[in-house]
Amino acid sequence: MRILLALVLATLLLLADAFPPDPVFCDASGDCFITNSYGTWNTRQVCKVSQIVYPSNEEELLEAVSYGAKNKLKMKAVTKFSHSIPPLACPGDGDGGDGGGHSGAGGLLAISTANYSRGIAVDVTSKAVEVDGGAQLQAVLDEAARHGLALAASPYWNGLSVAGILSTGSHGSSWRGKGGALHDHVLKLRMVVPSGKNSSSSSSHNEVAKIVTLTPGDGDLFYAAIVSLGTMGVISKVTLELEPMFKRSITNVRTSDAGLEDKIVAFGNEHEFGDVTWYPSKREAVYRIDDRVPANTPGNGINEFVGFQPTLALAIVAQRALEETLEAQRSSNGKCIASRAQVSLLESLGYGLKNTHGLRLFTGYPVVGFQHKIQTAGGCQESKSRLLICGWDSAKHALFYLESGITIPAQSIAAFIADVKHLRDSHPDAGALCGIDLYTGILLRYVAASRALLGKPFDGVDVGFTYYRSRNGSMPRLNMDVWQEVEQMAISKYGGVPHWGKNTPVTFSNAGTGRSPRLERFVKEMRKMDPSGLFSTRWSDRILGIKAMEEQKNPGCALEGLCICSRDEHCAPEKSYHCRPGRVFTAARVCRYESGGS
Ligand SMILES: Cc1cc2nc3c(=O)[nH]c(=O)nc-3n(C[C@H](O)[C@H](O)[C@H](O)COP(=O)(O)OP(=O)(O)OC[C@H]3O[C@@H](n4cnc5c(N)ncnc54)[C@H](O)[C@@H]3O)c2cc1C
Ligand SMILES: *[C@@H]1O[C@H](CO)[C@@H](O)[C@H](O)[C@H]1NC(C)=O
Ligand SMILES: *[C@@H]1O[C@H](CO)[C@@H](O)[C@H](O)[C@H]1NC(C)=O
Ligand SMILES: *[C@@H]1O[C@H](CO)[C@@H](O)[C@H](O)[C@H]1NC(C)=O
Repeated sequence: MRILLALVLATLLLLADAFPPDPVFCDASGDCFITNSYGTWNTRQVCKVSQIVYPSNEEELLEAVSYGAKNKLKMKAVTKFSHSIPPLACPGDGDGGDGGGHSGAGGLLAISTANYSRGIAVDVTSKAVEVDGGAQLQAVLDEAARHGLALAASPYWNGLSVAGILSTGSHGSSWRGKGGALHDHVLKLRMVVPSGKNSSSSSSHNEVAKIVTLTPGDGDLFYAAIVSLGTMGVISKVTLELEPMFKRSITNVRTSDAGLEDKIVAFGNEHEFGDVTWYPSKREAVYRIDDRVPANTPGNGINEFVGFQPTLALAIVAQRALEETLEAQRSSNGKCIASRAQVSLLESLGYGLKNTHGLRLFTGYPVVGFQHKIQTAGGCQESKSRLLICGWDSAKHALFYLESGITIPAQSIAAFIADVKHLRDSHPDAGALCGIDLYTGILLRYVAASRALLGKPFDGVDVGFTYYRSRNGSMPRLNMDVWQEVEQMAISKYGGVPHWGKNTPVTFSNAGTGRSPRLERFVKEMRKMDPSGLFSTRWSDRILGIKAMEEQKNPGCALEGLCICSRDEHCAPEKSYHCRPGRVFTAARVCRYESGGS
């Protein structure tokens, strides 16, 4: 009874002091801020900007970039929902500063694409679609479908803008054809970039910024621009390659994880859109058998993945409250029990797959449906009610987490999986790995080698997992050592590369990005497009390896991945979290709870 009362109260609070879900907002004093849909970057910095503009066509976009270039303002494109975890969309350094000596007229310019999304033009003859940079993914898929066409590749979540997806190299799962990353399906790109000319000597604003059109014929410049972290200018229009509409047939098989390491590569070769959800703590894996079938195959299924639907705020508050309680009690077993129930519930709901569009019921496998109804899911981002929200809503009592996404070369994935199993089996606490199961375990997806300079340099398997984050940045997490070890192993032992739109800051440290042979080539092209670095920030310079990831190593810096610990004080020794070597990957340095003192 008391718990229920507390939940109702917390929900009311959530609704009352609801942070505006809009990631771009201005306060009463006129100061404007940019954040992401979670309400906080991985760095917990605040991004204050001096101006926000909302162009709605290419002319206005050109005007905006010209204004910024003329006044030597640091600039960034920001999107309607802003779903990346690192502070990529912040034009400054996130401390109210301007990113390095370009104060000029003073300040930072955010160019929102929220209102630059309506242009979606399908060309049936050439099987292509040209869209505005801010166009939302699902709107593009639906419009193509109206013309009998489909986009082969996309991320799983539809609350993303096309230019935002490209900028961080976002992907679905496929090794087939050109692979599952959207940027590998780009035919043409139009960008608005500073021209690098000196503004004071030009009379017309058109000379300080220009529109460039890029195609694969432009070589490195094109392959830099299709994944560019927002550092080259603003993507105005994107032309994507389509194909005739097809259907997909999905069957999820929940089974033992025995032999997963031996099956993982073959499974990716066998099924065009397959993936594997791995619950290492439960010794289980869900194999998603997902293949293309002809468009005339019976079936009108849809994908309404449970985690992306508008969800009762009360249920989310309850889940967060439970998680906080289990953290406070250090109850890994509690997390095992809670997640077991959740995993079974998800399975019984077909993970949100529905056999029929009309009745929206899951009645069993296979679920067959049109590509645009299956390839993505979403909905909560459009909710108009504060009673039905996304789980990660930025309000204070909703879920709050960090997310890792690291792609490991295909030839190493078996050894990686074996190491994670070894870590699980050698851990004194049998439930140590249960925490991530509350966020659907480890998602293994197939990502193909890309010619994009910041794309994946090899065929690989993306390892994605999500874990609890405290609202208080100086609080350690239960069994955090396990996931720190897995992350460091993925990068340093197995040569993994990080997803640009996820991860903690240290994941991008030179160990991860320095090994990309194409980084230098990217930076060269970036400087051609934006010679004065108006679209670059200290953050983008760091993750591109231009500037060293500063390791100031303040006390507690390892808790949220601002550093890798080398001394106990980088963890939380006063809470018995000490800096220790990994259990399996002994070169790792992780924050581990040891109740017996140091
Ligand atoms: C629930 C959820 C599910 C996700 N699922 C997947 C998935 O399945 N696969 C995957 O790979 N990723 C996934 N992601 C990560 C997501 O795809 C990336 O973070 C993506 O970059 C977010 O796109 P956005 O439109 O929100 O862009 P933002 O995060 O707002 O911006 C990202 C970057 O793009 C730049 N940018 C945006 N628009 C432009 C423009 N017009 N011109 C130039 N630069 C621009 C911004 O400046 C910024 O640097 C998921 C994220 C969430 C929250
Ligand atoms: C965006 O467009 C809508 C509809 O055209 C308009 O009402 C709104 O004012 C625009 N927003 C901004 C910030 O310009
Ligand atoms: C740009 O013009 C200003 C004023 O004429 C001058 O001081 C400055 O040196 C010029 N900068 C470059 C890069 O030419
Ligand atoms: C965060 O936790 C630390 C250590 O327990 C505490 O000293 C601090 O007051 C907390 N901060 C907030 C904002 O609650």
